[in-house]
Amino acid sequence: MLPFLFVTDLDHTLVGDDFAHDELNEWLLEARSQGSKIVYSTGRSLTLYQELAAEVPLFTPDLLIAAVGTAIYRDLQGEPDPAWSEKLQTGWDLEQVKAITAHFADLVLQPETEQSEFKVSFFLTEEAAMEVLPQLDRLLTQQGLEVQLIYSSGRDLDLLPRHANKGSALTFVRQTLGFAPEATIVCGDSGNDIALFSVGEERGIIVGNAQPELLSWYRDHRNPNHYLAKSYCAAGILEGLQYFGFK
Ligand code: GLC
Ligand code: MG
Repeated sequence: MLPFLFVTDLDHTLVGDDFAHDELNEWLLEARSQGSKIVYSTGRSLTLYQELAAEVPLFTPDLLIAAVGTAIYRDLQGEPDPAWSEKLQTGWDLEQVKAITAHFADLVLQPETEQSEFKVSFFLTEEAAMEVLPQLDRLLTQQGLEVQLIYSSGRDLDLLPRHANKGSALTFVRQTLGFAPEATIVCGDSGNDIALFSVGEERGIIVGNAQPELLSWYRDHRNPNHYLAKSYCAAGILEGLQYFGFK
């Protein structure tokens, strides 16, 4: 087996089917012993990652991309990679972003753990999103701010710096670890994972239980490097690994 880079979202992708997760863990650890690298890429902060890790059998990854690509941890006890944080500064003004979002009553701030220097996150209902997202986008642009709006699962809205998302963080990590896009597998289920699939030639596995926003993106951007699994969560990942001939 040639070494590969495996990058997976956690909630409703790697995590959700304990039986299949155990089987996948075993296979991944074997691959790691032969030179492959395993990276988790989650929307969660390090704090909420640790909570999840206490509940389900997640082995320690080679790297953790947390908070929707805004923090990269080589060491889960340490600080995020400063070289990556440095890149995110460009065009980002946290205070101005917060001030603009204050105009929208429909935006409900997520818990304090999910707010950071490079990520402002809200809950927003699907009904309100249709109106709020274009208005918010317009207002941010008018103020000369380069902010990405990432809406996931009909519930979560993340405001991020221009250079930060799961896709750009993946590229940074992939280049640091020295893997080609063709030797890289990405897996996800929701809106914040679209950046993982759109960044390049990586082999993408979309689990069968994916959210509507990712499914509609997949249908609008047909690409032989992407596979939509029938099975859910880790079982869908196992199915995709077989499809691409990794397993
Ligand atoms: C995770 C994070 C949350 C974010 C969501 C979608 O649930 O905790 O802050 O909004 O992912 O990216
Ligand atoms: Mg997910």
